[in-house]
Amino acid sequence: MSKLWGGRFQKSTHSLMDDFHSSISFDCRIYRQDIAGSMAHAAMLAQSGIITPQESEQIINGLKEILEDIESGRVQFSTSAEDIHMNVELLLTQKIGAVAKKLHTARSRNDQVALDVRLYLREEIDHICQLLKQLCRQLLDLAENHLDTVMPGYTHLQRAQPVTLAHHLLAYVQMFRRDLDRLADCRRRVNVLPLGAGALAGTTFPIQPELVARQLGFGALAENSLDAVSDRDFAVEFTAAAALIMVHLSRFCEEIVLWSSGEFAFVELDDAFSTGSSMMPQKKNPDAAELIRGKAGRVFGDLQALLVMLKGLPLAYNKDMQEDKEALFDAVDTVKKCLLVFTPMVGSLRFRKENMARAARGGFTNATDLADYLVGKGVPFREAHEMVGKTVLYCLQQGKALEELVLEEMRQFCPPVEQDVYQALDIANCVARRVTLNGPAPSAVRAAIERARRALE
Ligand code: ARG
Repeated sequence: MSKLWGGRFQKSTHSLMDDFHSSISFDCRIYRQDIAGSMAHAAMLAQSGIITPQESEQIINGLKEILEDIESGRVQFSTSAEDIHMNVELLLTQKIGAVAKKLHTARSRNDQVALDVRLYLREEIDHICQLLKQLCRQLLDLAENHLDTVMPGYTHLQRAQPVTLAHHLLAYVQMFRRDLDRLADCRRRVNVLPLGAGALAGTTFPIQPELVARQLGFGALAENSLDAVSDRDFAVEFTAAAALIMVHLSRFCEEIVLWSSGEFAFVELDDAFSTGSSMMPQKKNPDAAELIRGKAGRVFGDLQALLVMLKGLPLAYNKDMQEDKEALFDAVDTVKKCLLVFTPMVGSLRFRKENMARAARGGFTNATDLADYLVGKGVPFREAHEMVGKTVLYCLQQGKALEELVLEEMRQFCPPVEQDVYQALDIANCVARRVTLNGPAPSAVRAAIERARRALE
């Protein structure tokens, strides 16, 4: 088949080459964006007097039919037509004849592909933001039910101080809210119209890109034609934001894996989101969480692929850039799939409150509170720290918790303690006293939930 660019060639491409440089196998997924972009371009060409209104109408109607043909599965794309742009143009020529050949006036595939990918990514960003918001709402609902569910907070994976499950869940809400913010910021730079840049140096035709921008909902026009066709920063930015979403999901999944182990026994996985072993009949594995943790690596790889693809490219367009799509599509698909599974998986967890509370009562998570209590009795903090350290050592030798010591025992190390120390050591009180803005006290967390809900609206 003769190529749309075949004029200066005397020989056809090697069959190996046809297959090698063709991108239709993966860029066929942006057919809708390609057609929408071409419709807007054709309308603008007529409005600018570059083609006639009749020609524009014929082109637009032809494109509409092609869209229907593709959606109803009547189209078989051709590898030798290289990519989605030339496939659509070919289909249009078959459908409406010679006038189709006017569509590409004042346009190159270089600005066209940049347009298509931006349209695609803008839509996907909106979709991912919806999924992130659903996840945040799910976590906020859960948090509301666990304002008083005490659990240990950890540093170094060693029990440190008591917190609540609600507080722990809200930590993730903060991460996902930052992810939303990053996507919104990235979207502004995705939403820039590259059309009009042509191959690299703009065009001699009196085009009106602002009309195309209005029709397609772009917030700005690219200001430099070389940059317009060679910029893939927006794809890198998105993939970096996607990589961080995966980091957050993966950390959460790691906790679910730990918490569902017999050793922690903080959660019971729902059967619907776990699987068994083909050999060991007793097993119930946290596969969904493990897979999400595992898939994080794919998205980091996608980011790396994009960065390396771009770093050595001279201006403006280079064919290397065709490699952006599979990485970008994979990042989008992976993040979406993971969010889609993660939200109901988290919603189906059954938290074992008694085990969490028991874990919080062990491990001396109230030791800092004893030191703070002593500070209240006039002891300088450093000295109080030392006194409590010695008390803990004694408890370890006796196999007791701090609150299990009688006053006389405690006074050997902490002379100022009085009966009210037992109030200070009570785990629920330890949490309830932490009422600072970002603290775990139920009152503080209730207010944090309200703030988060408002921010998500
Ligand atoms: N399939 C190409 C890509 O994805 C479209 C742009 C091709 N431009 C060119 N001059 N060969 O990047």
